[in-house]
Amino acid sequence: MKILVTGGAGFIGSAVVRQAIAGGHAVVNVDALTYAACLDNVASVADHRLYRFEHADIRDAEALARIFTKHQPDAVMHLAAESHVDRSIDAPEAFVDTNITGTFHLLQAARRYWQDAGSPAAFRFLHVSTDEVYGSLGAQGRFTESSPYAPTSPYSASKAASDHLVRAWHETYGLPVVITNCSNNYGPFQFPEKLIPVIILNALAGQAIPIYGAGRQVRDWLHVEDHSDALLRVLARGQIGRTYNIGDENETTNIDVAHKICAILDEKRPARRPHRDLIEFVDDRPGHDLRYAIDPSRIRQELGWRASRTLAQGLEQTVDWYLKNEAWWRALQGRDGVGQRLGVRTGNWRKTAI
Ligand SMILES: NC(=O)c1ccc[n+]([C@@H]2O[C@H](COP(=O)([O-])OP(=O)(O)OC[C@H]3O[C@@H](n4cnc5c(N)ncnc54)[C@H](O)[C@@H]3O)[C@@H](O)[C@H]2O)c1
Repeated sequence: MKILVTGGAGFIGSAVVRQAIAGGHAVVNVDALTYAACLDNVASVADHRLYRFEHADIRDAEALARIFTKHQPDAVMHLAAESHVDRSIDAPEAFVDTNITGTFHLLQAARRYWQDAGSPAAFRFLHVSTDEVYGSLGAQGRFTESSPYAPTSPYSASKAASDHLVRAWHETYGLPVVITNCSNNYGPFQFPEKLIPVIILNALAGQAIPIYGAGRQVRDWLHVEDHSDALLRVLARGQIGRTYNIGDENETTNIDVAHKICAILDEKRPARRPHRDLIEFVDDRPGHDLRYAIDPSRIRQELGWRASRTLAQGLEQTVDWYLKNEAWWRALQGRDGVGQRLGVRTGNWRKTAI
C-alpha cells in the first residue's frame, strides 16, 4: 500500500513512517517542518526506495492537490498538527490554522482525489487524534468511543473540531474515514518540551525537574511504537466511519512518572543525590485536566490489538534511548521556547508552596 503520512517528521508521525516502511508499505511524508519537526527522526529510512518526502504545509490546497496527483496514494494517515498544550495557551492561532483549517484542506484534497479516481472503496483516510477531546475525568470512569466531547484547552478544542470535520466528510461525502483517539505517548524522538523528555533531560543536567501543580494529574501512557502499531492495524482492518480509542491501561500520576524515571536514572547514571531531589512543584497549567483514562475494549476485541511492552519496560527503553542519542536532543534544545515555561502568564518557572 502507498500511504501519504502528514506530520511524518514529528514524534508519532516518524514512528509511523519507520514502521510502515519496515512493513513493506510505500510512504510519502508530507511535513511543513515546523519547530517540532526533525528530519533526523526519519534518517533511518530517508534513502529507502519506499520513502518520499514532500516539504509542504497542509494549509496549502494547491500543494496538496499536486502531491495527491503526483503520488496517487492508497491511504492517508493524518498526523500533522500543532501538538503542545502549553503553546496552545500562549498562541492559539496556529492551532486553529493547522489543526482545523489544515485538516479541512487535507480533507478537501483527499476527497477530490478520491472522487476523481471513481470513489474506490479501498481508500482510507485515517485521522489521528487525542483522548484530550473528551475533556477531564474525575476519579472514576474511562473514555469510551461514545464519551461526549468536552475539550478544555485550545489544543484539544482544535483537535475536537478536526475530528468533527473528518466525521462530516464521511457522512456528507462518503469519504472512507477512520478516527483514532489515543492517550499520551512517550518514547524515542519525543521533542524535548514534552513531560517525559523534560524529566529525563533536566535530571541528567542536574537541573530542577518542574512538575505542574502537585503532580496529581493522571495520564494513561502509551509507547509511541505501540501507538503506531495500533494505527497501522486500524488502517488495515478498522471499520469505515468508526472511532477507535487507543490506550493500554497505564494510568499514572505525573509525580509517579517523575519518580519512576528518577529511579531508572539513579541506576543508570548515579549522581551524588537521588535524582528525585531535583523535583520542584511549579504553578499549574491553566485549565489542567485532572485525569485521562482510555477504555481500550473496542480495539482489543475488534482488531486484537494490545501493547507489546509494559510502562516499566517502555520507560527504561526510553531513558536508554535519550542516554544514547545526546546529539539528537542537544540540537533541539536551542529551538524557540524549549526549556522555558510556556502556557502561563509569568514566563518563568516558579516554585509553589504545597
Ligand atoms: N503526542 C501525544 O501524546 C499524542 C497523543 C495522541 C494523539 N496525538 C496526535 O498525534 C499527532 C502527532 O503528534 P506528535 O506528538 O507526533 O506531534 P509533533 O508536534 O511531534 O509533530 C507534528 C508534526 O506535524 C508537522 N506539522 C505541523 N503543522 C503542519 C502543517 N501546517 N503542515 C504540515 N505539517 C505540519 C510538524 O512539522 C511536525 O513534524 C497529532 O495530530 C496529535 O494531536 C499526539
